[in-house]
Amino acid sequence: MSVFVILGLLVCIEAQGPSAVTTVFVQKGDDLILNVHADVPEEFLFVDWTFNKTVDVVLFVPDEEPTVFPDFTGRIEFPGKKFSVILKNLQEADSGVYTARVSSFAGGVQQPAEYKVTVQGPVSPVELTVDSVDSVVSRSSDSCNLTVTCSTQHSHISSTFRCVSGTCSQEGGEQSELTTSGASLRVYLLYGAIICNHSNQVNWTEDFKRIEPFCPQYAGSEGSSAGTSVYLVKMVVFSVGLIIMVSAVITVHLMEKFKKHK
Ligand SMILES: *[C@@H]1O[C@H](CO)[C@@H](O)[C@H](O)[C@H]1NC(C)=O
Repeated sequence: MSVFVILGLLVCIEAQGPSAVTTVFVQKGDDLILNVHADVPEEFLFVDWTFNKTVDVVLFVPDEEPTVFPDFTGRIEFPGKKFSVILKNLQEADSGVYTARVSSFAGGVQQPAEYKVTVQGPVSPVELTVDSVDSVVSRSSDSCNLTVTCSTQHSHISSTFRCVSGTCSQEGGEQSELTTSGASLRVYLLYGAIICNHSNQVNWTEDFKRIEPFCPQYAGSEGSSAGTSVYLVKMVVFSVGLIIMVSAVITVHLMEKFKKHK
């Protein structure tokens, strides 16, 4: 029984001072600064940083130079700030959780900072290719089907665009897919162009093709609908103006009539 109470207490101490986890994405090769987000008591026993809770990174004890552990030798710098460290030239294998611990007589062991770090390489280039064009122009039907493939090194998406009477749309809407490296590959329609985009949190590449050269009867659906709406607005403004003018004339006319009757 008492063993459980002691265990419970230990768990409480472990969980003390729960630090908010900071999530960061870093481009491969970049540096990252880790800060302790709290005041460390003057009388601290030690402050350290660990990687994934098990690997020692660096240890600070009072009145001594910090100790950098073998896995991180030559890969760490110290900015002026107390207990902050700069991780140099990060690689994918450095992705994980970096935790600061502060140990003092007064406060036990606390965790004043935790970073969840994801290191990402630049995404590979993409290529958008048009696989087939099926354009029908006649009196009764007027349509164009465009099938494209958006591809990157290890994955690709195919998508079909259909233009009918000057309006193009994508079958099934925007298409997207997560690649093995956690980046996303997307194909979508934007202002009469087909966009193929490959992106992760730190980097993106893109290729695009305008629809018009493949389906010459369309000058871009969004463009033409914008033109239509400007025309509509003008028509409405003009009509409303005309109605106001006509009713003004009628009102004046009626008032004159009333005056004559009196
Ligand atoms: C560290 O932990 C992350 C998950 O949080 C894991 O993906 C990664 O492989 C671990 N790295 C090492 C070297 O243990």
